[in-house]
Amino acid sequence: MKQLLVISFLFSLSFQSLCFAEPAQVVKLDPLARFHPVIAEKGVTVSQEAIASQVGTDILAAGGNAVDAAVATGFALAVTLPRAGNIGGGGFMLVHLAEENKTIAIDYREMAPAAASRNMFLDAEGDVDRVKARHSVHSSGVPGTVAGMIYALENFGTMSLKQVMQPAIKLAHKGFPVSRSLASSLVRYSDYLGSDPASRNYFYRADGEFYQAGELLVQKDLAVTLKRISKQGRDGFYTGKTADLLIAQMRRNGGIISYEDLLNYKVVERQPVCGDYRSNRVCAMPPPSSGGVHLIQMLNILEGWDLNALGHNSAAYLHRLVESMRRAYADRSLHLGDPDFYAVPAEQLMDKRYAAQLRKQIDPGKSSRSKDIQPAPTKVINESTDIESTETTHYATWDRWGNVVSNTYTINFSYGSGISVAGAGFLLNNEMDDFSSKPGSANGYGLIGGEANAIQPGKRPLSSMTPTIVFEPQGEPIVATGSPGGSTIITVVLQMLLNVIDFDMGIAEAAAAPRIHHQWLPDTLRYERGISVDTLNILTEMGHSLGDKPVRLGVTQSIASDKNKIKYAASDPRREGAAAIPE
Ligand code: DON
Repeated sequence: MKQLLVISFLFSLSFQSLCFAEPAQVVKLDPLARFHPVIAEKGVTVSQEAIASQVGTDILAAGGNAVDAAVATGFALAVTLPRAGNIGGGGFMLVHLAEENKTIAIDYREMAPAAASRNMFLDAEGDVDRVKARHSVHSSGVPGTVAGMIYALENFGTMSLKQVMQPAIKLAHKGFPVSRSLASSLVRYSDYLGSDPASRNYFYRADGEFYQAGELLVQKDLAVTLKRISKQGRDGFYTGKTADLLIAQMRRNGGIISYEDLLNYKVVERQPVCGDYRSNRVCAMPPPSSGGVHLIQMLNILEGWDLNALGHNSAAYLHRLVESMRRAYADRSLHLGDPDFYAVPAEQLMDKRYAAQLRKQIDPGKSSRSKDIQPAPTKVINESTDIESTETTHYATWDRWGNVVSNTYTINFSYGSGISVAGAGFLLNNEMDDFSSKPGSANGYGLIGGEANAIQPGKRPLSSMTPTIVFEPQGEPIVATGSPGGSTIITVVLQMLLNVIDFDMGIAEAAAAPRIHHQWLPDTLRYERGISVDTLNILTEMGHSLGDKPVRLGVTQSIASDKNKIKYAASDPRREGAAAIPE
């Protein structure tokens, strides 16, 4: 009995110490850590394809900076994510340089060939010939990716082109295991890709069968092209053998890209557009992307309300989002285009006084109709589709020194025009469809445009790609994000930022939260699964026209950083195959 008492006394002591003693160290998790992002003390790469993320992080681990890693990832994605990663397309790269405390926007968007003309996609009846605009050699603008990657590396990187391209060359030459996602997308797009002999040869097995997940996809011609680029730089793509192959492809099909067009391709370094939202500064891509301007315009409108008090994804909140989106996209249709050809009133559109005017028009209890909302006449602002079938890709790198790259690039639709350059191993974009081929006629994303985005030789088609970096009040970068999704990109990025800034979500949590989209025309509120039926009913009562079924909106790749410079990286859970990989 005595023994038992002693034992129970000892037990209660140890039980007490287990229950009540202070742990040696209480680790307080940053809210950014919620929903299991990848946590990195040094650098990190996040992209839609795991092998390419690893390539970026290997470069960081070898001493490269964020730009070295971003260029390596960009070339690797051209091999491992052929539906969007590319050397035959173009894009935008936002670079934040920690030491200089400077952010740069690199525009490597495709340019219209010199022989392009305003009505080149109109048929005899004056209607847009969608096949010509989207699935022919005419669909392709002059590719900018190779020039853009080399520009970034030469100006802001530290490594040689050979060094950063070596992993991509090896992946193309030796092959890489086809992922489930790649295998299924090659099945899904087989009509499209299989009708082009070169694409059929590159993306389907010699016996005509589909690649199964786990089989090796070897891309010998692409490896040789990449090798030429790594040795000769820009000349390895824009002149010589690669140019010969591209021009031969054009000539076989009556295309209009010429040797001069390739030689004349130019990368443009631009000032990002930045705006203050609550206590943060948001910097994003300027025109020829519409993304940054309208992201800031919508944030300006929304800043006038206490969104947090309305509740995340409540009807009151979503209604304000929709009304802000509606007005921004109406303005997009008239005012946005390539700034080298058209005077885009970007400052006015991003003016807080203009946003206040727009906010005043919004009835908090009632939806407006898009037909009643028109883009603001220039004078006024001076005073104050099936989304899943398209493809683009966003990725980000963040190094241990605090340099950040936020990059979105594309060949427009999944696998671009579907046409590969025979002998050179890469797909041509169909970015010419992002122009407004006919005023009032919708492009592949249902977007309407006019004069500002009409086709002109040498002009860049208007884009929605929105690579973004957010800064805290002292100027430290805290979030890098972006997404594919055509016209929905801007509203997806908007909701990512609101989730983090207004609703204090972790970066992975912010990525997972259900989203909505409205783009003025069509006057339809598109929504994801997860917005409650009650909320949708209230929105309908307010007068919103809902899409008939949920859609998927965007696929973000994001990195956030806390005040201790710990990074939290998260791939969107909407699509498999992506990875955030810490150094
Ligand atoms: O530049 C643009 O806005 C479009 N070409 C992007 C295409 C896209 O995001 C397709 N991805 N889902």
